[in-house]
Amino acid sequence: MDSHSEMYTYARELCQRGVTVIPLLIGTEHLVWYHVRIRSEMQAFPEFRSESLNNRVLGAFGALGNPASFHSPTVRELRRLVHGRAHELVRNLTRYEGTPINMEQLFDRLSWRQPQARFVESWHRDESESALAGDRIFGGWINLSRQMQQFVCFPGSHVDAKDDPGRGFAKIPKGEHACLDSQARTIDVNPGEWIVFDQTIAHKVSDGARFYFEPAMRLYVGFRLTKSDRALHAEEMDRVFADQACPRLPSGQRPPLYSAMHASVHLKKTIRWCADNVKDIGPAFETKQKNANKKRKRAGSEGGREMYKIARRFMPSLRDLGLPLYEEYNQAERSMYAPTRIRVLSE
Ligand SMILES: [Fe+2]
Repeated sequence: MDSHSEMYTYARELCQRGVTVIPLLIGTEHLVWYHVRIRSEMQAFPEFRSESLNNRVLGAFGALGNPASFHSPTVRELRRLVHGRAHELVRNLTRYEGTPINMEQLFDRLSWRQPQARFVESWHRDESESALAGDRIFGGWINLSRQMQQFVCFPGSHVDAKDDPGRGFAKIPKGEHACLDSQARTIDVNPGEWIVFDQTIAHKVSDGARFYFEPAMRLYVGFRLTKSDRALHAEEMDRVFADQACPRLPSGQRPPLYSAMHASVHLKKTIRWCADNVKDIGPAFETKQKNANKKRKRAGSEGGREMYKIARRFMPSLRDLGLPLYEEYNQAERSMYAPTRIRVLSE
């Protein structure tokens, strides 16, 4: 089977089942080359105090929220590589479906998940608050670890939601879980492979704690197919490139350094973590008594208000942090993040 017909098979599978897995980094050397380079760039991220990879973000999910993680050289190189394959995939989709379309890549996060992390998400569909009617958005990731990763979904369940991109993160009601569990399939994503799924496919995240023996590294990858010629988050793209800022995620959310839960229920732990790990602490943050927990009230905070220093939950750009920027984005690289016409591939 040649690579042309092979990609056609992946495109057809993506249409019919809503999910496919494509080899991207072929051979151990290719994978290790990216793995080692991204690790060393992560160690050198300028926003942090230490080189420890385990302190790059707070929370079990492990997806990073610092600007360097979006703009460091090897991450960008990997996005260029996957863009070429995505272009090929979408050309084959047009051949399967017979209609031309515009394609843009969507910025998404680099992730470093601890083996002991207990991260669970019940059945849901990923959705984009900025998507237009008729847009199709594909999510997925590249497995950059030496160990297999997995995706649990109900193949074919993407069809119902296709014409309704919805808003944000759509949980599926509990009453439907038993039915979905009976239809669930676990998709293996081997080291170096790229899993692509229609974001409207029903999927869940099971606890990986018993499975992983080392941190799981992945680069999340998003693509949008649209009739529009305006990028999904067009209003902020110039600033993202020029200042090397954290971009909005495909969902429309901003990537946090720690969750809202950390900033409320686990505030003290979060303050300590920020002080130990993040260079940009402050300005002083003020909270009101109605938001303070009982323990802090007992500690006798004056007038129900406390002052403390903490890193910002949504980190400023590298430029705003006064840190050196990585290589400037040229026009070719910028154009990957704007809708580009994909011609129908003829037989
Ligand atoms: Fe999801």
